[in-house]
Amino acid sequence: MKRLLEVLQASAEYLAGKGVADPRLQAEQLMSHVLHCSRMQLYVRFETILEEPQLVPLRDGIRRLAAGEPLQYVLGDVEFMGHRFKVDRRALIPRPDTETLVTTVLDCQPLWMTGSAVIADVGTGTGCVAISLAKERPTNRFVAVDAHSQALELARENADMNGVSDRIGFRQGDLLSGFGQGELDAVVSNPPYISTTACGELPHHIRNHEPLSALDGGADGLAIIRRLISGAREVLKSGGWLFVEIGFDQGSAVVGLLRDNGFEEIVVRPDLGGRDRVVVGRVPRGRAATGEGNNELSGFGEAAIQRPCV
Ligand SMILES: C[S@@+](CC[C@H](N)C(=O)[O-])C[C@H]1O[C@@H](n2cnc3c(N)ncnc32)[C@H](O)[C@@H]1O
Repeated sequence: MKRLLEVLQASAEYLAGKGVADPRLQAEQLMSHVLHCSRMQLYVRFETILEEPQLVPLRDGIRRLAAGEPLQYVLGDVEFMGHRFKVDRRALIPRPDTETLVTTVLDCQPLWMTGSAVIADVGTGTGCVAISLAKERPTNRFVAVDAHSQALELARENADMNGVSDRIGFRQGDLLSGFGQGELDAVVSNPPYISTTACGELPHHIRNHEPLSALDGGADGLAIIRRLISGAREVLKSGGWLFVEIGFDQGSAVVGLLRDNGFEEIVVRPDLGGRDRVVVGRVPRGRAATGEGNNELSGFGEAAIQRPCV
């Protein structure tokens, strides 16, 4: 039996000694998770006596954090777009930056007009992108693709947990290889886009615990994006959309790749930190649709556009 404050202080000191970043914050987050209360509530419960059933998961969590495991894996879940997702070593932890990708897709009004769009989430990982879209746009259909069966298994569990399994198909494969010509209304992807050299310099809690296959984009970070863009050009319908998350310094290069592959209406959108984060492109519409006018920015509301690339 120990007082909550004593346990918290000892945990934070232990984590600090092991070189864990933000040791007090991580110890508080672990403790609030185990005790099912908010971090603020811990502060009015400092004198509470903790019993063995509470101390056991706390010790286990502290041991894992001390070994460098990311807090989200230790807690076992994470919030993304206001929904809960199970996370573990099978897939990359969803990052807040990826919410910019999802909101960009949701803002694309022409995509949702029929209410029956077919959309592939390529490199689905936890499934956070496809599942968030399926929750917001329930009449449309989604296919979640990943090269790794373990990630797909986790994505399926998350789809069940979020009640959208009936709207998402799961497919193991290399990028868009399983799709036919003109089959999709949109391709959405947060692909691996960090250069191999930069991957080697990532903090060890990422490098040693999260799957590198989710991050490594080859020598210049663009190896997967290049293949994704040329593949998307084949499988998207006339007027179909491609949405890609990118590294903050990849905007110009990816815009160039989209242009080279014949995409139009290209827009770069920043994340909340103001850095380039998402690039959007559209397959030219067939002659019959050109009467609508080929407005370069027609997919998005005025306020949504930060940097049109026209
Ligand atoms: C950056 S993670 C994104 C995960 C998730 N969509 C998210 O935003 O959190 C990239 C994902 O792409 C998958 N991946 C890597 N190469 C792939 C390929 N050639 N084909 C399909 N998926 C691939 C990885 O397994 C990983 O799940």
